[in-house]
Amino acid sequence: MEKLTRRGFVRAAGVAAVAARSLPAFQAATVAADLAAPGVRFNRMLFGQFLEHFHRQVYGGVFEPGSPLSDGDGFRADVIAALRELKIPVVRWPGGCFASAYHWLDGVGKARQPSFDKAWGVEDSNAFGTGEFVKWCRAIGAEPYICTNAGTGTPEEMSDWVEYCNLKGQARYARMRQANGFPEPHNVRFWSIGNENYLGGEIGAKTVAEWGPLVRESAKMMRAVDRNIKVLAAATTTGNWTAPLLKEAGQYLDYISIHGYWDPLWRVNKPSGYLQCMMRSEEPEQEILQAAALLETTGFKGKIKIAFDEWNLRGWHHPGFPGGGADTALIAQRAENDRNETYTMADAVFSAGLLNACLRHAEDVQMACMAPVVNARGPLFVHPKGIVRRTTFHVLKMYADLLEPNVLAAQVSSEPLKSGEKQVPVLDAVVTSSDDRRRFAVALVNRHPDQPVQCTLNLGAPPRDGAVQVRLLAGDSPDAYNDVGRPDRVAPETRQWKLQGGAVQLPPHSVSILQGPV
Ligand code: AHR
Repeated sequence: MEKLTRRGFVRAAGVAAVAARSLPAFQAATVAADLAAPGVRFNRMLFGQFLEHFHRQVYGGVFEPGSPLSDGDGFRADVIAALRELKIPVVRWPGGCFASAYHWLDGVGKARQPSFDKAWGVEDSNAFGTGEFVKWCRAIGAEPYICTNAGTGTPEEMSDWVEYCNLKGQARYARMRQANGFPEPHNVRFWSIGNENYLGGEIGAKTVAEWGPLVRESAKMMRAVDRNIKVLAAATTTGNWTAPLLKEAGQYLDYISIHGYWDPLWRVNKPSGYLQCMMRSEEPEQEILQAAALLETTGFKGKIKIAFDEWNLRGWHHPGFPGGGADTALIAQRAENDRNETYTMADAVFSAGLLNACLRHAEDVQMACMAPVVNARGPLFVHPKGIVRRTTFHVLKMYADLLEPNVLAAQVSSEPLKSGEKQVPVLDAVVTSSDDRRRFAVALVNRHPDQPVQCTLNLGAPPRDGAVQVRLLAGDSPDAYNDVGRPDRVAPETRQWKLQGGAVQLPPHSVSILQGPV
């Protein structure tokens, strides 16, 4: 029978793959790790989020002045309360494609004028700008992370934004901030230069030859204003763009910013089904491995980290955009992003696998931001009368609440889940332990759409019998989702599972986190 390990296939001698129809009533799998072994302490910025001026993420999402559900700042208080449950450490803003033509001065001060959003073809009131974003971040307990305009902007405009946010009174833009009602610096630590400027469709797209020098001069100027900031730059996981970038500007960078969406719904909104999504669930880790290899070959491994600062299984739906002009018919189709039936257990299982991939590479991946945080493809759906926690919300909360801080090396072996010529391991897992090695938390993902997994845990102690506490998210079907009329159809449960010989049975299409004393 074929067994899949993290390293690939290990075909049992002389035994061909068992035909799918004769598979046992469950899939066999093992997870082996030594709880006493040293681990890698992961950065909690892996649980970051992204907020873009797109459709109803800002206006009608986090910011809705006049709503009975909003506070005195116009922030949806129910959204703040829900997002605080996720313990979000960092939020990236204002884009995304929106950032590549955004001029930050339009979004500060008392006399703001609306501006035309060249990326998404709509007018932005600019009522939500730098001050509002920073204040909202503090309200949800997150660090603000600003993505600057390297499309139509300049190094000077970027560094002036740093001055506005981070200097005290000894500078023109700092004094402007104070006059705008913010006497203390905003203390924005994270700054990205550009967004996907490698894409031809991006406003102000750059060539490889242009990009390195622009990033170098922008980073120099931003650091000349505040040398304590962390600087990121738009990058890809392939060498033709990023190797020249690092050659020109690597010495000024703390992270490279990479993005990933795997169900391409930009033009046609036909969400892929559960099994199709599962077949793509190993691709995020391939991206991470490519980026880590690039840092290695360019000599920046260990010096520059990876920020997966836009990720989502589902690409956002915006036919004809960015840059499609003020086409109201096309713009109206963005409402498709709000269809809650899109976000099923496929999204939950895929997202858990992506977080596991980031955790497995915690020494390189030090930030990840789900794209976006509300509405569109985000974990939280916001409507005029309330909110809906989508399946991914529960995964993010489980990971933020229950994992121990150290990721241990683990050998995971399971049957393949197959669809046509494609296959992926049925089981994905990550093992974490406390600093004193007295507690563990194992995240186990069963990707199978209809079969349980009998998973044996070999954690460096004798086979374990007896009860173990489990937080389980499974849903009643691989296509289960939450919606306004049924907000808790998919909800996490706390269970006591009985380990037998160290084995547990994982329900189909499920994410489980087992916790226990060593
Ligand atoms: O589909 C949304 C876009 O995806 C973001 O604005 C951009 O950064 C990415 O290409």
